[in-house]
Amino acid sequence: MSAPVLVLNTTAKRETGREAQLGNIGAAKTLADVIRTCLGPKSMLKMVLDAMGGVALTNDGNAILREIDVEHPAAKSMIELSRAQDESVGDGTTSVVILCGEMMQLAEPLLTRDVHPTVIISAYTRALRDAIAALEKFAVKLDISNREEMMKVIRACLGTKFVSQYGDLMVGIALDAVNIVRGKNPDATAAEIDLKKYARVDKLPGGDVSESHVFHGVVLNKDVTHAKMRRRIENPRIVLLDCNLEYKKTESQTNVECNTEADFEKLLKAEEREIEQMCAEILRVKPDVVCTEKGLSDLAQHYLMKGGVTALRRLRKTDNNRLARISGATIVHRPEELQESDVGTLCDLFEVKKIADDYWTFISSKPEADTRACTIVLRGANKDVMNEVERNLWDAMNVARNIVLDPRLVPGGGASEMAVSYELNRLSKSIEGVRQTPYRNVALAMEVIPRTLVQNCGADVVRLITELRAKHAQDPAKNWSWGVDGIRGCMADMYDTGVWEPLVVKSQTFKSAIEAACMLLRVDDILSGASKRSNEQQPTAKAMEDSELSEPGMGMGGMPGMGMPMMG
Ligand SMILES: Nc1ncnc2c1ncn2[C@@H]1O[C@H](COP(=O)(O)OP(=O)(O)OP(=O)(O)O)[C@@H](O)[C@H]1O
Ligand SMILES: [Mg+2]
Repeated sequence: MSAPVLVLNTTAKRETGREAQLGNIGAAKTLADVIRTCLGPKSMLKMVLDAMGGVALTNDGNAILREIDVEHPAAKSMIELSRAQDESVGDGTTSVVILCGEMMQLAEPLLTRDVHPTVIISAYTRALRDAIAALEKFAVKLDISNREEMMKVIRACLGTKFVSQYGDLMVGIALDAVNIVRGKNPDATAAEIDLKKYARVDKLPGGDVSESHVFHGVVLNKDVTHAKMRRRIENPRIVLLDCNLEYKKTESQTNVECNTEADFEKLLKAEEREIEQMCAEILRVKPDVVCTEKGLSDLAQHYLMKGGVTALRRLRKTDNNRLARISGATIVHRPEELQESDVGTLCDLFEVKKIADDYWTFISSKPEADTRACTIVLRGANKDVMNEVERNLWDAMNVARNIVLDPRLVPGGGASEMAVSYELNRLSKSIEGVRQTPYRNVALAMEVIPRTLVQNCGADVVRLITELRAKHAQDPAKNWSWGVDGIRGCMADMYDTGVWEPLVVKSQTFKSAIEAACMLLRVDDILSGASKRSNEQQPTAKAMEDSELSEPGMGMGGMPGMGMPMMG
């Protein structure tokens, strides 16, 4: 008998066929179960410890999932799913995972009955197409120039979040920030409303959350470089640089031999002249404020201070870009290339203030100038709270941005899902053969959203969902906006509760969830190239501890061992 041929490395882990499929389904289900309680207005928070020992206190699906360390590849791709949802629309990151988990779970009995995955996938894909078409049919257009209406939608999005306790403050902040970045251009494109680039959230510790506001300008965690520079300038002329204002070190090593003291002095003089020349080039355009991304030597500070200029150094590239946007300045690389047109004149105030222990520079834009960048100043006593407020704010800003880009809305509270589910059930009657069951499964899976909302507020799930189904069946053309009131735990018309969501968020949720489910169902073999890692785990955890011990104060979020004072 010949020896067995080993193709795979003996340490490689392999799961095939049914085992792999059921494993994937199990992983997807588990992950969905983890964050099921985080959906809706009565959601629970989760306290997640990250690898650095920081604490994240949140109910944001993506923020929870990205911190947890999973091993199963299917679970990893679910986490990726939630991240992709966050990237593309910024909301619905919990829903998408729950929905995908449900789609997978409902495929399980079909697989055990030997329905081929491709059949399930083609039925799912068709159902997705019909679901999107149905959603678009239900969509209602919103007048985005109506502030009250916009506030209502953002309020509904934030209603599920921790910040809802601060009322309309955050809603207003999100809307104002998006309006500033959008500017006066009525048909700004998605690329122009780039919130990541032009809106920044700065957390200033201390004070009360209610003191948070939108600042039409840039806030920098900096002080002026020289104590005698002016700290308050009205209508400043701003010059932005991305070069060093110190004498350049040569790239290759150079040796200079000085024979006499005078030679050395000459050398120093030459360096000084260089700097003086640079500063003279800058002073030529008569700026009040000079900001550079790189260094600024003591000598340069001296010359600039003499010229009455206030200088800031080592700005972040992103801050410099926003500063260019709000001041109208051009970022210049060489001082000798500075021209009058590069000077920014659109700002009305430059001010350095001391808040708590830090110096902060505030540069505000003239209100009448259409400068499209802003900073959201968040105040709060507790770092965990501020981090969660920031995450919530990003959700709200993304929703506002989505509506500005596409003002169509669909009802929330599970109403859209119920309406789509009813529609799919109706359409499934025309599908024959083996594809009908998986198609119906999609309709059934949609109900997971209202079901979870009801569950999370502690009402009677079976009764409420049955009633809701009946309501939709009774008069689908009229009752399509009925869903659950996630606060009181009863049926409600979304026209009354005012819970509406952007169409793009909902349709993206459906698309991502179903596409991810299809992809996972198509897998019939899991091969892990790396050797089994089980006995590697402990050293990693230990290494993490060690590195923490050696670098105290490296915790990203709050401090380890910090309580949850805001939960009271
Ligand atoms: N007052 C309400 N009553 C009923 N349902 C609501 C209410 N407010 C929001 N919802 C529903 O809650 C769901 C959104 O919940 P949540 O914001 O917790 O999760 P998500 O948007 O999926 O994920 P995340 O916001 O974490 O990215 C939506 O389906 C929405 O329609
Ligand atoms: Mg949400």
